Amino acid sequence: MGCRGILGFDYGIVQAPLGPDISGPELVAAVANAGGLGLLRGPDSEAPDRYRELIRKTKTLTDRPFGVGVVLAFPHKENIKVILSEKVAVLQVYWGECSKELVDEAHSAGVKVVPQVGSVEGARKAIDTGVDAIIVQGVEAGGHVIGQESLISLLPRVVDLVGDRDIPIIAAGAIVDARGYVAALALGAQGVCLGTRFVASEESYAHPVYKRKLVEMDKTAYTDIFGRARWPDAPVRVLQTPTYSDWKTLPPHENELNQPVIGHSIIHGTEREIHLLAGTVPNATTTGDIESMAMYAGEGVGLIKEILPAGEVVKQLVEGAQLLIQTKFIGM
Ligand SMILES: Cc1cc2nc3c(=O)[nH]c(=O)nc-3n(C[C@H](O)[C@H](O)[C@H](O)COP(=O)(O)O)c2cc1C
Repeated sequence: MGCRGILGFDYGIVQAPLGPDISGPELVAAVANAGGLGLLRGPDSEAPDRYRELIRKTKTLTDRPFGVGVVLAFPHKENIKVILSEKVAVLQVYWGECSKELVDEAHSAGVKVVPQVGSVEGARKAIDTGVDAIIVQGVEAGGHVIGQESLISLLPRVVDLVGDRDIPIIAAGAIVDARGYVAALALGAQGVCLGTRFVASEESYAHPVYKRKLVEMDKTAYTDIFGRARWPDAPVRVLQTPTYSDWKTLPPHENELNQPVIGHSIIHGTEREIHLLAGTVPNATTTGDIESMAMYAGEGVGLIKEILPAGEVVKQLVEGAQLLIQTKFIGM
């Protein structure tokens, strides 16, 4: 057992794509410069120019490889053309049909494909399309959650399914520190994908109040009350804020569209009204009642005690895991 790199990166540390615009060029470049895989997040609509801009900006901040995450449930064909023509290292995909054609097209462009799945069935489909690695998301994860199983039981089942194929498995959900990283390695993963820990980093584009709440709060909830109109049937894990507690029994026919506007954000260059119960987390431009907005967080949030530079997060994971393995497990 050890902290080997994956997919040509120095380390098996992945910074999750963080929607709608929380993982921008600064965060991704900081992770890349530290030897991890950083994933950009672009708009959930056809916006090839914006994708090009984000990728090119990141290239000015790092000469190391990085990737882009795309939610396949939204229009994406033109965006993917740009991602492939810009030859980023990795295309991460989530929530939608990751077809063999898409994987083949990416491979022809020299781009590796890494889907995030939340079940053994999802992993089986991914293997059949010829993907390069699989992120296995447990129900503990922050943000949108595609499956219902805990990482500790789901991950080894996917590892067994993959068998001796050369497809690294990357664990996602509630991993925040070296202990979580080593636990994931013990379950058979070769890498870990962290979302919440990187939202709470200096370089993330999250609003300072959201970052502070990640340090202060420790309870999360799995719910479908946020963002129902924009992205139906897509549960999320959020901080248990007063908004969540007040609205957690929202009747099924209600959604954010008939709620009042509580603020404004500029998301990927466009000004948007933020309704109460919208699914968009507050970013650095957001004004209004920030504390009442959705704040995605994984179950590991109680372990986050400070905002750190993203490079430091990567360093602490790698060095901490090496130390833990040497002191606690070698010769055990
Ligand atoms: C603010 C936020 C936004 C997210 N956005 C995306 C996304 O756009 N695409 C995606 O594949 N996963 C997204 N995720 C989920 C992550 O990929 C990952 O599964 C999750 O963050 C892992 O759990 P953790 O937050 O406990 O580390 C998001 C997570 C958070 C916290």
